[in-house]
Parts: sequence; C-alpha cells; structure tokens
Amino acid sequence: MRLRTRLSWAFGGLAVAVLGLSAALTLWAEDRYLVRKDREENLLLLSRFAQGCGEALRLKSDAGLVAYVLSASEEPGRVFAGFFPPNGTAVIHSDPSLRGEAIIPPASVRKLMAKGSSEVPKPDLHTGNPLQILLQKVTAEGRERGVAALGFDPAHLRARRLTALSNNLRRIGAVSLAALAASVLLAFYLAFLVTRSVEELSRGARALASGDLRHRIPVRGADEVGDLAREFNAMAERLEQAERSREDFLSSMTHELRSPTASIAGYSDMLLSGEGGPLEPKQEEWAEAIKRSAKRLGAMINNLLDVAKLEAGLLEFAPAEVPLADAAADAADSLLPLAREKGVSIRVPPDEGLSAWADPDSVAQVFTNLLGNALKFTPQGGEIVVEVLAGAESRGEVLARVCDSGPGIADEALAKLFTRFYQAPGTREKTPGKGTGLGLYLSRRLIEAQGGRIWAENRRPAGAILSFSLPAAQKKRAA
Ligand SMILES: Nc1ncnc2c1ncn2[C@@H]1O[C@H](COP(=O)(O)OP(=O)(O)OP(=O)(O)O)[C@@H](O)[C@H]1O
Ligand SMILES: [Mg+2]
Repeated sequence: MRLRTRLSWAFGGLAVAVLGLSAALTLWAEDRYLVRKDREENLLLLSRFAQGCGEALRLKSDAGLVAYVLSASEEPGRVFAGFFPPNGTAVIHSDPSLRGEAIIPPASVRKLMAKGSSEVPKPDLHTGNPLQILLQKVTAEGRERGVAALGFDPAHLRARRLTALSNNLRRIGAVSLAALAASVLLAFYLAFLVTRSVEELSRGARALASGDLRHRIPVRGADEVGDLAREFNAMAERLEQAERSREDFLSSMTHELRSPTASIAGYSDMLLSGEGGPLEPKQEEWAEAIKRSAKRLGAMINNLLDVAKLEAGLLEFAPAEVPLADAAADAADSLLPLAREKGVSIRVPPDEGLSAWADPDSVAQVFTNLLGNALKFTPQGGEIVVEVLAGAESRGEVLARVCDSGPGIADEALAKLFTRFYQAPGTREKTPGKGTGLGLYLSRRLIEAQGGRIWAENRRPAGAILSFSLPAAQKKRAA
C-alpha cells in the first residue's frame, strides 16, 4: 500500500475514533445531566406539594388537602400522592383503596420527619412494579404534622429521558457526520502534505539516477523536510558540476589528442609510401604497426569526442532517407581489409528498398561499430551476416541485424552492454588493446536520439545478434 493511502487511512481512522469517542462521552454526560435534572425537578415538586399540604393543615381545610393530593397525583409518570400523619395511616391518599390503611410504621414516620426528606425505592402495593418514592416532612404552624409522599414511575422517567436523549443523539449525529466529512477531507489533505515532499524527493532521486542532473526539487519551509530538500539540491548541484567538468576535460583532452594522432598516422603513411626513401622489410613492418595503432587511437578519440558532444547536446542530426542495405555495404567495405586479414566473410543483403529516416552519418557509424565488434569477436573462418527487415507495420520502422559466429555474449552482460565504458568480463584479455567500451553506448545514444531502439541477443548454436530499429522513411514520406 502506498504511503499516502496508509497515512490517509491512519489520519481518517484517528478522526473517526476521536469523533466516535467524543460523541459517546457527550451522550453519557447528557444522560447524567438528565437524571440529575429529573431528580431536582421531582424534589421541587415534592417540596411544593409538602408546602401545599402544610398550608391546608394550617387552614384546617380537609377539602384543600384532598384537592392537593389528587392534583399532585394526576401528572404523567406520577403513580400516587399521599399525606401520612405521625401514626403512618394514609389519611389522604390518591388511591381510595388505601385511604385509612396503616402503610408506614409510626417509627419510620418519626425517622423520616427527623431526617426532613428521603427517597426510597419500593414496589407498587398493587402491581408490584418498582416505584421511586420521595418523602418530605410537612410542617404547619411550627409543628411537624406528618410526611407528604409522591410515588414516581421509574419506567416513565426513563422513557422520557430516552426521548430527550434520542433527540440529542440526532443532533449530535448530524454534527458528528459533518465533522467526520471535514476530518476525512483533512486527513487526505494532511496525508498529501506529508507525502508530497517524500514523493518529490523520490522523483528527484529517480531523475538523478536516470542521468537528469539538472533536476531540482522544490524547497518548502525551514523545517527538517525543507533541510532535506536543500541538501538534495546541493548534492545535485555538485554532481552536475562534477559531470560538467568531466565532460569539459574529456572534450578538451580528445581535441588535444586528435591532431598528434592524425600526424602519426599521416607520417607513417608517408613512410610507407616510400617518399622518404625505401624501407627495410623490418622498418616497413614497424611503420605498418605504427599506422594501425594510430588509426585505432584515432577511432577511440573520435568515439570519446562524439560521446562528449552527445552528452553536451552538441551533436546535430540531419535526417534523410537512408537505404539500410547500402549503408551496411559501405560499412562492410570500409572493414574489408581487416576482414580479409582475419579470414572472416561479411555478407550484406541486396537493396530491397528498405530505408530509414535518420542521419546518414549516424547510421554509418552504428553499422561500423556493430560490424567492427562482430569482426573483433568472430574467429578466423567465421561469417558475419547483415540482415535488413521491415519492422512491424503498425510501428512503421525498419530493422537491421548484425549476426556473427563469435562466442556470443554472457547472459549477465546482455543488459549492460550499452552502458558507457562497459566491456564484458574477459573481453580485454581476448582482444587486448582493442576498444574502450564506448562503441555500443554511442550507438545506443545515436539510435535512441532518432526514435529507434537497439538490443542484443545470442544466437544458437553460437554467436551474437545485435539489432537496431529506426523510423521507416516510407512512413515519414506518408506523414
Ligand atoms: N559481437 C559481439 N560478440 C561478443 N561480445 C560483444 C559483441 N559486441 C559487443 N560485445 C561485448 O560488448 C562490449 C561493449 O562493446 P563496445 O562496442 O561498446 O565496446 P568495445 O568494442 O569493447 O570498445 P569500442 O567499441 O569502444 O572500441 C565489448 O567489450 C564486448 O564485451
Ligand atoms: Mg566496439
């Protein structure tokens, strides 16, 4: 799972947990508050009822007392109301069947009067349902005259509380949902903020790894992430500078080396032509060796110079229609003396009108590199075959393949063949002094810069096949 998804889940989950917990706590606190409020209200009712009873006793109005008791029992949730003198007999009771009954023992009435007020849970005398009974002493004209009692139905009180709670729950739910939606959005945004810098950093690292040394990442803020971005950019800057000085060095060195190498080749040519006088056979052999080495050195320097130019973006391409079979034949011709010397034959295909749309010099250079390699690795008596094919119709490309009968390429080397200065293990020992590992790298860059591909594979039973593709000239013309 990606870091951004993980963080979104974590932040979102945290928000849901916090919101759920706070909603549950709010409901619990609300329930406690309602219980307290109910009790206070009931105590207030009881105290008014007891005062009313006291007032009726003071006025010696039995009818008033009865009216008080009856009206106090009629409220919803109220099960009974009654007045009990010190002997505990229900003198006045909202339930007529209990009037005159000795319900509370006199000792309990005395205790209740001494206490002032009390609350007792008791079952209903008729139904046995639980009741919450609140009692308070009644005083009239400074004397304690008995206790007033109100019986409440706890189930009714609970139902009333639940209705109030469910209303609150609806309100809290609506607010929580809105808060939840906001927190989820916030969670996504936070995850985006946290991962943005990490993603920029990894994009930057990928860009550097793929050779784009000019890539810089945005620096945000002065915190640790900002420091990291600054350090990264400073590192990229240093890398870019190092790369630039390396390229400058390479290009100036190759320039400096080119003319003396050309002179060596030129003078050895002159020596061999006999202009400076006849040469002894030994001298001629040595002059030949000088000439060959100078040529090889010249080719190597040219490769280096081309790489430097390519990497500096100074190599220019002039695309034109290039008949691939002709280009292969020209390259083979230039290598013919060497091929003859090695006893290796080079077969090129007849021209069947397959042309690439590319820079002719680049195509010639790629063929020369591929044929040069094939020649270098093919043993005496071997054969090199060049093939030119039409690529897939849909891709509009032409393909060329150089197949040799050399030792082939080790599997682990296949993927690295086209990287700079790479030579497969053992190459230097087999072909000492021959090559720098730049030919295929240069070929790849030349081909890719013109919209093509280049790859290597092994041939059964032995040998290597180096192929490249380029846009077909026919397709270009059609476009
Ligand atoms: N036809 C081939 N058969 C076997 N190995 C090959 C073949 N072509 C290339 N290679 C391997 O790939 C390596 C890289 O080739 P590349 O042309 O880049 O360098 P090079 O020929 O060694 O030197 P340069 O081309 O710079 O003179 C070679 O050193 C060799 O190990
Ligand atoms: Mg080569």
